[in-house]
Amino acid sequence: MAISQNGNIVSSVGQFKTLEQFIIEQQHVLPYSTGAFSRLIRDISVAAKIINRDINKAGLVDIIGDAGEVNVQGEDQQKLDIMAHNELVRALIRGGECCVIGSEEQEDLIFVEPNSSGHGEYIVLFDPLDGSSNIDVNVSVGTIFSVYRLEKFSGEGKPTMEDVLRPGVDQVASGYVIYGSSTMLVYTTGHGVNGFTLDPSVGEFMLSHPDIKTPEQGTLYSINEGYYRAFEKGLREYIKWIQTPDEATGRPYTSRYIGSFISDFHRNLLRGGIYMYPSTAKNKNGKLRLMYEVNPTAFIVEQAGGIAIDGTKRVMEIIPGSLHARTPLFIGSKQMVERVQQFLSGELTLKNAS
Ligand code: AHG
Ligand code: MN
Ligand code: MN
Repeated sequence: MAISQNGNIVSSVGQFKTLEQFIIEQQHVLPYSTGAFSRLIRDISVAAKIINRDINKAGLVDIIGDAGEVNVQGEDQQKLDIMAHNELVRALIRGGECCVIGSEEQEDLIFVEPNSSGHGEYIVLFDPLDGSSNIDVNVSVGTIFSVYRLEKFSGEGKPTMEDVLRPGVDQVASGYVIYGSSTMLVYTTGHGVNGFTLDPSVGEFMLSHPDIKTPEQGTLYSINEGYYRAFEKGLREYIKWIQTPDEATGRPYTSRYIGSFISDFHRNLLRGGIYMYPSTAKNKNGKLRLMYEVNPTAFIVEQAGGIAIDGTKRVMEIIPGSLHARTPLFIGSKQMVERVQQFLSGELTLKNAS
């Protein structure tokens, strides 16, 4: 997008590469370079455009608010959670590149029947709408997805849960869509991170943020500090350390917490910062879901030069116990995540940290 001399916004067509052109150009870097992966990302991007359209109508038609159901996590489902889930499932089934789907909004796996050219080779897991409780108040929300490849089923005929419960290091791609002041799709296949902005005038995602890198050290921290008293001692000390003025390290850092994980993550990725959803006295495993919130963002942050840990170890090495398993998360700029880890282990305290 560019601004002309008279201040009008000039269409981006012709100036930027579309998502589809970019994927086709990149196909050669993937070891399993077939058109199937390109079609899979295209299917997800089509669903994202439909979800984007629906979200933009929130407030005008009767789609905001509670759907009156509770999902597998025991959380109220918003109408748009269900609509986003349905759009993604529909697009993936229609596309035929996927053999099994897992969603935050459905307890069991969704098996996709093979079509005339056989079964799809990909597993896609997603949080259809992250931060959906924020929709009613017009705050950014997102879609998060994780992609695995499955050439051979371990069982007879169809994939099993065992085929799906793989660590994040096995992902072949991951990404998210953020429905914010503009709509962006950000993804990685393990060869860097690229971001695309939806140009609504042409209905295409355009490469606007090539090769995203996150700063090694940032000044933003994101955590729900309302739970402060429920945090373990090391974390409480780290937060106090962050708040202690110090010219050399630029402290105090700035607190930013939207309560839409993907929006907080996206801002910190671009600006540099740390997002934390720790274990609390009540929720030992925190709140975020390993397979469709944590692993996809961990893959992206690592590809951008950052790190993601559960407090002690790399989250992408965790073997998932279940599709909807949760994990504590500390994710973002490398030096910031390393520092919180030192506080959590007791190596650093308020007294000995400089
Ligand atoms: P979802 O809307 O998919 O259920 O996710 C909500 C999550 C995440 O987006 C956010 O960071 C977190 O919940 C906020 O939780 P707290 O209100 O406990 O801070
Ligand atoms: Mn979520
Ligand atoms: Mn959700």
